[in-house]
Amino acid sequence: MSLLNEIEPLKQSALAELKAAADLAALEQTKGAWIGPHGKFTALMKQLGTLPKEEKPAAGKLINSAKTELEDALAAHRGELELKAALPKEPTDFTLPGRRRAVGKLHPLTQVTDDIVRAFRKIGFVVADGPEIEDDWHCFDALNTPADHPARDSQDTFFLETEVRAGDSRSGKTEVPLDPPSPGAADEVSAKTNSISGRGEGGPKQAKPFLLRTHTSSVQIRVMKSQPPPIRIIAPGRVYRRDNADATHNPTFHQIEGLYVDKGVTVGDLKGTVEFVFKELMGPDVKLRFRPHYFSYTEPSLEIDFTNSLVKKLGKDWLEIAGCGMVHPAVFENVGYDPEVWTGWAFGFGIERIAMLRYGINDIRLFYENDVRFLRQF
Ligand code: DAH
Repeated sequence: MSLLNEIEPLKQSALAELKAAADLAALEQTKGAWIGPHGKFTALMKQLGTLPKEEKPAAGKLINSAKTELEDALAAHRGELELKAALPKEPTDFTLPGRRRAVGKLHPLTQVTDDIVRAFRKIGFVVADGPEIEDDWHCFDALNTPADHPARDSQDTFFLETEVRAGDSRSGKTEVPLDPPSPGAADEVSAKTNSISGRGEGGPKQAKPFLLRTHTSSVQIRVMKSQPPPIRIIAPGRVYRRDNADATHNPTFHQIEGLYVDKGVTVGDLKGTVEFVFKELMGPDVKLRFRPHYFSYTEPSLEIDFTNSLVKKLGKDWLEIAGCGMVHPAVFENVGYDPEVWTGWAFGFGIERIAMLRYGINDIRLFYENDVRFLRQF
């Protein structure tokens, strides 16, 4: 048989063997047997030199195209075998649903707080902050709440034994000297500062009892001590009271404080601001009612009652929602502001109460249990 006639059958056998290779190792072996240095097809090519001159071009062309065909077939089958090797060994049902990642959400209290902050930001308020471990000067004294005031009753307050500031010489008594207002001291701090978390700075120079703050009103004092007026801040945060937990009380809860200080501020500004924010939060059918009340740090003091369709659904006409009033001159004096020059209002309300109303939640404790079945709903 002439060389020329051998090419085609040899190629067919090589193709058949390559395609039959069951895995990559078998494929490499077959490749060696045919087109490796000692392969059968390579041997055929080596014989090309022995052919008469006139037969060489035709035979060379034929051999080259056969070799290309073999190499293509090899590459194609290698691709198939590689894919097969990469697939799972076990049978797989590709129609099964994928594994979902659980997406987290903001806690409902955080969502409500964010909405309140957003509403206040629209009218130029910035967020201020203060420590949860507070001294009783910032929490009570500076807010014109004397030592014998019922709000300071140890029943309502968590006092701490801890000595927080180095160099304090503790007397162990709750009676401590007030921080004397230092005129002009407030000007030293940048008016742009809106995070007031220092402890004891500008406060009494002597030892003082520390406690878990009972309200966010202490942030008013920290802000006023650290910057000159005008002031337009809100301070959301956690507060603590010695309450037993029930459907409407918890020893830890959240408040948001507001403080506005400028020249010529009126109760009208207070009412307009609170009304704007509650309408933003709860919709346009909100109605507010301001009732005379007593807080030692405001004069006059008011309580705010709230109503809308949700309150009516609860079978109530009004729901008490916040305390507020015009900042007491004694408070301005305590922080070194001249009460003859500056006027202002302040308010404080509980965030849980608003969230409960908004979402129709009837037990405050649900907020703190972190049961995902509850949290998933918001
Ligand atoms: N601190 C008060 C409370 O915890 C709420 C409050 C009332 C805050 C009147 C104020 C205010 O700023 O002016 O019940």
